[in-house]
Amino acid sequence: MLDPGPGEGVPGLAANPHADALPETQFGHNEFLPTDSAGNPLAPQYHRVLLLSLDVAPSNEAARAVERSMRTLEAAFEWAPDGLLHMLAWGTDYFERIGELERAPIERPEVLSRTDDPDLLSFDAALVLESDTPSHLTAVENALFGDRDELNGEPVEVRLGDAFSVSARRTGFMGEGLPREHAHAEGIPTGALSAEDPMFTGFFSGRKGTQASEDRVAIRDGPFAGGTTMHLSHLTEDLDRWWNDFDVPDRVAHMFASDVSPEDVTDFAGTVPFDDAVREHAQEEGRVGHHEKVARAREDGEPVVLRRDFNTVDGGQAGVHFLALQRDLADFRKTRKAMNGWYLRDEHPAITDRKNNGLLAFITVQSRANFYVPPRKARSFPLFAGEN
Ligand code: HEM
Repeated sequence: MLDPGPGEGVPGLAANPHADALPETQFGHNEFLPTDSAGNPLAPQYHRVLLLSLDVAPSNEAARAVERSMRTLEAAFEWAPDGLLHMLAWGTDYFERIGELERAPIERPEVLSRTDDPDLLSFDAALVLESDTPSHLTAVENALFGDRDELNGEPVEVRLGDAFSVSARRTGFMGEGLPREHAHAEGIPTGALSAEDPMFTGFFSGRKGTQASEDRVAIRDGPFAGGTTMHLSHLTEDLDRWWNDFDVPDRVAHMFASDVSPEDVTDFAGTVPFDDAVREHAQEEGRVGHHEKVARAREDGEPVVLRRDFNTVDGGQAGVHFLALQRDLADFRKTRKAMNGWYLRDEHPAITDRKNNGLLAFITVQSRANFYVPPRKARSFPLFAGEN
């Protein structure tokens, strides 16, 4: 056995035999995704996040078991949407458990808008799974937490379930036509969605110019270098008025800005133009768009948040699991505050905390939770394994 030593991997375990074919980060997905005609990466179609609670005391033995079970996924599936993309992230409960929440790059979630009263959740860990093949996600869950003893031909010798229990689950989908297949959910009027709509609001999200790069969200130095932070919130959507009372230009104005036309949206390619004129639009039009508010959080012209959100009908209600990666959770908070638009409240009487204020009349935040996503080689018990 090679012993990689502190910070280099899990003590007593040889280096990952799959490492050469895999990115060093767990969130290195973009170059493995197909792109649309404008070069925008297309997210995998099916998503599942298992929220985990630790059943064993942290130990190097537990770290070896967790790492070996993650390697089973890498042996079984190619790192690609027709295989499996995955991340093991560690939550605020874990860092508190090992007495390191102060040192951790994350903190417990807070309420970020006065329109919402979300559950502020804390977990030990989260396993994020993405694939274009929905049965892969079920097979992985059964292999890692049930009694399935092979995964795509690979024997399952160690299970994540030996260390963790699944305490909650988030499921969803992303891509053209999938929202319509799930339009029986509450919050979507019958017949509203077309076979092209990639999200319940009818718009595409994820143009590369509107996303932070994977490099931008990586933590630069210190014990967490090469990792990132992950925020996970559950937003429910109530889109009856969105679809029934708004025409296409109204929806475009609320999603982007009042000077954006439906034709402009059809012509958007690799980015969404940002004029930084939200105050003027508020004064002149009495309504503002989601994009023109959130793009104010850009730094040096570049977005600071990498959105990996997906649609859901968990709980029977249309919504979004807003999974966001950023170097620092402060980047997320800053973006969410830009979205709240409080700085506009004196600009026009028609703009309130929710009304004529982008998407805010249509979404409710149900919960928030924060995680740290270590680099692949340090994904098992960060700050603990190898230091004891
Ligand atoms: C139901 C909820 C949401 C929907 C349907 C939605 C939809 C969209 C859409 C369609 C875009 C345009 C992006 C593109 O074409 O690539 C966008 C951009 C963006 N959204 Fe959202 N969004 C939602 C919630 C949020 C939340 C909760 C945040 C964070 C607090 C957020 C942050 C952003 C950011 C940072 C951008 C890119 C801004 C830039 O270009 O700099 N969104 N969103």
